[in-house]
Amino acid sequence: MSVQNTNKNIVPPSEIERQREYTELVRTVLSSRFADVPKAFVHTYGCQGNVADGERLKGMLRDMGFAFTDSPDNADFVLYNTCAIREHAEDRVFGNVGKLKNIKSARRHMKIALCGCMTQQERVAELIRTSYPFVDIVFGTHVTHRLPEFVYRSYGTGKRVFETGESGGVIAEGVPLSRDSGFRAWVPVMYGCDNFCSYCVVPYVRGRERSREPGVILNEIRQAVGEGYKEINLLGQNVNSYNGGMNFPALLREINSIDGDFTIRFMTSHPKDCTRELLDTMADCEKAAKHLHLPVQSGNNRVLGEMNRRYTREQYLELVSYAREKMPGLSITSDIIVGFPGETDTEFRDTLSLVEAARFTSLFMFIFSPREGTAAAKMPDETPHAEKVARFQELERVQHEIALELAAGMAGKRLRVLCDSFGDGDIVTAKTEGNMAVRFKGTPDMPGTFQEVVIEPGDSWKLTAALDGCDK
Ligand code: 5AD
Ligand code: SF4
Repeated sequence: MSVQNTNKNIVPPSEIERQREYTELVRTVLSSRFADVPKAFVHTYGCQGNVADGERLKGMLRDMGFAFTDSPDNADFVLYNTCAIREHAEDRVFGNVGKLKNIKSARRHMKIALCGCMTQQERVAELIRTSYPFVDIVFGTHVTHRLPEFVYRSYGTGKRVFETGESGGVIAEGVPLSRDSGFRAWVPVMYGCDNFCSYCVVPYVRGRERSREPGVILNEIRQAVGEGYKEINLLGQNVNSYNGGMNFPALLREINSIDGDFTIRFMTSHPKDCTRELLDTMADCEKAAKHLHLPVQSGNNRVLGEMNRRYTREQYLELVSYAREKMPGLSITSDIIVGFPGETDTEFRDTLSLVEAARFTSLFMFIFSPREGTAAAKMPDETPHAEKVARFQELERVQHEIALELAAGMAGKRLRVLCDSFGDGDIVTAKTEGNMAVRFKGTPDMPGTFQEVVIEPGDSWKLTAALDGCDK
């Protein structure tokens, strides 16, 4: 099926070029101000979409002439790329920004910048303006590509830069990129979200859905695969709404046909439009990891309705069983919110029973956090926090049992894994196709390679293995 891409908002190449000119200007400023190469500390909070933005922010800073440090203590430029999904995420950012005040009083030349989802909220921008005067640059999610200009203005004028205006959202192509990993690549296929789940701040801080051109995505992937990347992670708040002149399954087939030894993952899929076509395509594409992240959020139909999720528990479970029928051994992971306003204990039991039925490989669980401006933040919420914590813990226990059973069932299986790290005791950490962590004895050259391992019997949900053909 071919669909027309109607929502482009592509940043004109002339604007990207203008930012390149600012990049050169910053280079000149930095070389006149610093005897040594100045160091930037960039920290990204939150989801993989933010991680992908962070890699572009680092690309721009690298081109401006910054090297990187892993601590703010010796940094000349600090950038926090923030997340607003839950209050806890915001608290952590404010805590860390607060700590920078002391560091800056000893390093007066240090520049501090904040960007990402938090800065897109008026309340937060105002708080930084009034209570965090030592923050130099604040910019929103729709102007990320203009970092060189903001840095130049800040060095040039010494004045604070605030650029956090409203926008439906843009697509900026041709922004420099500095990937964190040499073998896992994050590739956004679309930005924004139009779903307005009642608890979620994302549609307010990330703007409307817009898809990147397939040609641009395919080129980025071809390049990454050419550079030796082994895992291509396609990113979007809801990849199934991809609408870049072809739909998501068609894009997946195109990517699958790129030559090379690599795996394709994608996240996140919204159950309401995770189609059979997508599942069939996933089953057909040999490079697509047989792992599906399919956030369910609740197992109760009334709560799902209040959340504006637009599917029922029955539809969700039907999707899960179709997916498993098509892809035996498929690993499914999910997100759940506990303590949504008005959720009763009986309704929570429906979540527990859904979790028991769906048998997720792993589960990301969250206690509801009211986000200003969202519909759910205005709903009466009478359940005491302690009760929500108790529900959370019960869900954790149920999921833990399932994870134990799944891990026990893996013993003896031979799997291809992608290795991440090598460390103490010659231990290699790796991820299975189903995105389960596994450890085994290996060698220092393994990170970034695929290895065949056999899972050992164990009594933990943490998998241990031995290299296939290895006598331990
Ligand atoms: N409170 C708690 N959890 C939330 N999530 C999104 N918004 C909220 C909120 N207000 C969770 C959802 C989503 C995941 C990324 O974060 O489960 O899938
Ligand atoms: Fe938030 Fe729902 Fe959009 Fe996901 S699909 S980003 S939960 S509004």
